[in-house]
Amino acid sequence: MPHMLEWSRAYTHRLSSKDAEPMKARAGEIAARLARETSAGELPFLTMPYRSRLEAELPPLLPRVRACKHMLVLGIGGSALGARAMQQAFAPGQDGPGYIGPCLWIADNVCAERFEALLSKLPPADTMVVCISKSGGTIETLSQYFLVRDWLRASMGDAWREHMIVVTDIAKGYLREEAGRHDLASLEVPDYLGGRYSALSAVGLLPAAFLGIDWQALLDGAASVAQPLAASPESVAGHPSFALACWARALELHDYSQLIFFCYIPQWAAYGDWFAQLWAESLGKDGQGTQPVPATGVTDQHSINQMFLSGPRNKGCLFLTSDGQEAGRAFGDDLPDKWAWLRGKPFGSLLEAEALGTRMALCKNGVPLLHVQMADNGPRAAGALMMLLEAATLFTGWLMGINPLDQPAVELGKRLANARLGAQGYTQEESDLAAYLAVPRDEQTF
Ligand code: PA5
Repeated sequence: MPHMLEWSRAYTHRLSSKDAEPMKARAGEIAARLARETSAGELPFLTMPYRSRLEAELPPLLPRVRACKHMLVLGIGGSALGARAMQQAFAPGQDGPGYIGPCLWIADNVCAERFEALLSKLPPADTMVVCISKSGGTIETLSQYFLVRDWLRASMGDAWREHMIVVTDIAKGYLREEAGRHDLASLEVPDYLGGRYSALSAVGLLPAAFLGIDWQALLDGAASVAQPLAASPESVAGHPSFALACWARALELHDYSQLIFFCYIPQWAAYGDWFAQLWAESLGKDGQGTQPVPATGVTDQHSINQMFLSGPRNKGCLFLTSDGQEAGRAFGDDLPDKWAWLRGKPFGSLLEAEALGTRMALCKNGVPLLHVQMADNGPRAAGALMMLLEAATLFTGWLMGINPLDQPAVELGKRLANARLGAQGYTQEESDLAAYLAVPRDEQTF
């Protein structure tokens, strides 16, 4: 069974299929750009030229990595969210009772308390630290690196180097220099492979491999979606990722300013955060874009779904399900009469019924909805979904006339924070901060 996009409820309410025609008419232009950028090596997330090198360099690291019970990942944004999604989807045991397998900890914030909780409990000699940063200079990641380096050194001296792997640019950045200086093991983040498009490189796959996840299957799934685009860019016109992009752009142009990512594959819930970052950081540009809203079925039926159904009519929905989820233990034949209709049914039947009910309720309440129906929920399927969404994000950005691969707006806050911490070379930011802080405070206690 193939995975599929089910379109019958996508063009509804304020949106008709005619609204996507101007976008679809640009398929030739998009194909030409795709051909140009893939042959220039600028879209490695699609063409995956790094795969053979990764397959040669990652496996030899695994015995050393798997000799440790713990892996501590230091990274943020695109350097963390893919690994977390894969962990929760395919190696969720750590959150459950009786777990004895490998443990992955992802430190993607500057929370001193949480960081302390990790370092005070993790045994350095049984922990592999993986520091992930494409730029090699992200302050949140680097600051944790410095502290963890001290922590390792304090307990094992020079052997700290055996417990640190860096995943970063092949040639530039502070982290690459550190790897050279201390002879640290490293894997590359290839040129042009920006954070949020890098989950299917060493960035996400080293942690996945540590957990015993079938990382090759993730790559195979991604390749199955990307290959037609990479091999013959003109196939974009009929490719599901382009159809999705045309729909998303049409939604935006018809005042649907939010895009719900409603995930009815509960194990895949963390893909909501991964998708939200991919979509928001790629497409929130020049006053344009749609706000991604991740939600998990069925949990969020009892939470934000009320707003989806009866709040402002400004939402479209990507609705994700998987076939084959109707398993699970069955209800007994002795259920009380009031619940007789559940007798003999597997627990999993609730998920299918509730997904259908919610889908229909959304459709009835003015939400154009594209049903993404996965044939199964294994790693290969996840790889296919990730590539579908990455390609769709790229094409949506091109249709919008923005660059979906950069994120200039978030730089300002970073520069101001650096200035606040006393970094050199931020004269303008220092005076901007002073002016900001000089505004009299308008306080109200509570
Ligand atoms: O998607 C992106 O490009 C960003 O979210 C980055 O992943 C994030 O800022 C971390 O960057 P880096 O990997 O360079 O440390």
